[in-house]
Amino acid sequence: MCGIFAYLNYLTPKSRKEIIELLIKGLERLEYRGYDSAGIALDTSDSENITILKETGKVKALQNQILNKGYSLEFDVIHSSHVGIAHTRWATHGVPSAVNAHPHRSDDDNSFVLVHNGIITNYKDIKVFLMGKGHVFESDTDTEVVAKLMAHIYQQHPDLPFRELVEQAIAQLEGAYALCVKSRHFPGECVATRRGSPLLVGIKSKTKLAADSIPILYSKDAQKADHRVVSVSAGLQIPAGDFPRVESTSQFGPLGEDKEVEYFFASDASAVIEHTNRVLYLEDHDVAAVKCGILSIHRLKRGIDESHAREITTLKMEIQQIMKGNYSSFMQKEIFEQPESVVNTMRGRVDFEKGTVVLGGLKDYIAEIRRCRRLLLIGCGTSYHSAIATRQLLEELTELPVMVDLASDFLDRNTPIFRDDVCFFISQSGETADTLLALRYCKARGALIVGLTNTVGSSICRESHCGIHINAGPEIGVASTKAYTSQFISIVMFALMMCEDRISIQPRRYEIIQGLKMLPDLIKEVLKVDNKVQELAKELHQQKSLLVMGRGYNYATCLEGALKIKELTYMHSEGILAGELKHGPLALIDKLMPVIMVVTRDPVYSKCMNALQQVIAREGRPVLVCEAGDTETQAFCPGNFLEIPHSVDCLQGILTVIPMQLLSYHIAVLRGCNVDCPRNLAKSVTVE
Ligand code: M6R
Repeated sequence: MCGIFAYLNYLTPKSRKEIIELLIKGLERLEYRGYDSAGIALDTSDSENITILKETGKVKALQNQILNKGYSLEFDVIHSSHVGIAHTRWATHGVPSAVNAHPHRSDDDNSFVLVHNGIITNYKDIKVFLMGKGHVFESDTDTEVVAKLMAHIYQQHPDLPFRELVEQAIAQLEGAYALCVKSRHFPGECVATRRGSPLLVGIKSKTKLAADSIPILYSKDAQKADHRVVSVSAGLQIPAGDFPRVESTSQFGPLGEDKEVEYFFASDASAVIEHTNRVLYLEDHDVAAVKCGILSIHRLKRGIDESHAREITTLKMEIQQIMKGNYSSFMQKEIFEQPESVVNTMRGRVDFEKGTVVLGGLKDYIAEIRRCRRLLLIGCGTSYHSAIATRQLLEELTELPVMVDLASDFLDRNTPIFRDDVCFFISQSGETADTLLALRYCKARGALIVGLTNTVGSSICRESHCGIHINAGPEIGVASTKAYTSQFISIVMFALMMCEDRISIQPRRYEIIQGLKMLPDLIKEVLKVDNKVQELAKELHQQKSLLVMGRGYNYATCLEGALKIKELTYMHSEGILAGELKHGPLALIDKLMPVIMVVTRDPVYSKCMNALQQVIAREGRPVLVCEAGDTETQAFCPGNFLEIPHSVDCLQGILTVIPMQLLSYHIAVLRGCNVDCPRNLAKSVTVE
């Protein structure tokens, strides 16, 4: 949760106005990660102190405060070198308020100022310790202890270089964090570090960079798990000299005379892409420091097989991909992008003519996967629903037992995992804390780990043995839409790859591959139902509740549709397995209860019709999502249906979910809800 953005210009003169605009723009790009409050910190115009500006609400509110409330920000003053840090918050500790917003500071002098993403779980111990030393806290956050801890260490050891001081401080922290720190004692320097929360560094330089990767510097005894010198509970004492000192020998920066360079630190690439496409992703325990325009990366911990350099990668993302274009919201744009996003998911992987499917990221592992004892699909929210949607097909095409689990529940149960299990971790962001923890749990038990994400370079990608990029393109709206359909297709492609050698199943494979080929056109057809969905939304938007029923391949559509409705419209909504109707939910049905029923011509059609008739018999007036031209079914709900084209049974869920995405979008608009940023939620849930 939360978005971090920081900008460092070295020998690249920028006016304060330009710096502020850049920080605000960076926050806007990250706003989907959290939007309770926002703040920035930059040097004062004389560069002798630090100014912090914070505001409750969205980034726009902060921008208005800066523009309208008359801060004497001296917009025209030029800084030839400068560090600005910025943050958009999703509250975990302390209500959304200006005082709880980041950046947090160490003291009234703003000696150390930082932005944080994650949760410091031992913050209470540290707070008690620091209060005992006379530090006065102003916020209810866990983050503030980190800034004050740094000031405390500085008071004791004023000679410590900035990076080492930060290393001392983070060695005391438990929990998860990405941090960007600036200090009035170290002007022009920035230190950033991560453990459990994503952070990347963007690099922009007019001249060629000295290298395509940056070597990592290890502390002398980096093999130790942590550099905790003396634990907080035992009383924090940090004698200088006890901490291993490492002199930086690597020079990373532009080549030649011209040393001007700009660095960007961000929670994700969408905030830096308009400035540079050259980025490096920090790993857990990395400490990145910029001093005099030179970037160095240190590690506090040495893993067994870890790489000794961080590659600078070139982002393939285009700026247009993260702009709204003519759509009123990112969610609407992303729903309408699905005819193209599904093509991108299949591009270069499915050969429709030859009937082959090759997932490059899995091809070296497929033999091992075929020999496994069982497949486990693990995720949260929408990602979990994509596993529900494809389980039946996976069982059919692989003939393996398939377990589908919510990551949080999977962990709560201490689920037994074996070396011959293959575990899929499905996550749009690739950063969801529960999913990542479940991944580590399975990896520690020797299972093969397969990541399925939309975010190249994300933690789940990096920590998996192999995987599939779903290639849906950036998804900015908090509600997952195009990622769901691409996750669905990715798992279908995996199932097809698993059964390519089985002769008996070839006709079914052929049917599905042809179905995949047709999908982009069929999705375009479904999207034509938008006006009708809008009319339906007008009828439903003042209701308190909405039930969504179906079974078989469409059960996942019911769960996903109900999740979309509650997440975006704040209405109560439930996805109900039609087979369970008689076991409880039927009691809810009367002539007032709004119900949507998904009924398609698949193997459970007659069972769905049974359920439909039971609902009608209790005076229910369901709206059908059914196949175009299926007049027999439509006759049960005259004029009260949304038509979708026919597809192969196992792919039908890709089409039936789209009217539900549209319906939640339109109801949200009619109820005046913020479609892209629903209340209390954030795009990337990097806390448990
Ligand atoms: O990034 P992930 O796919 O791991 O996120 C999992 C869920 O938090 C996410 O799908 C959430 O349910 C969506 N906001 C639903 O639209």
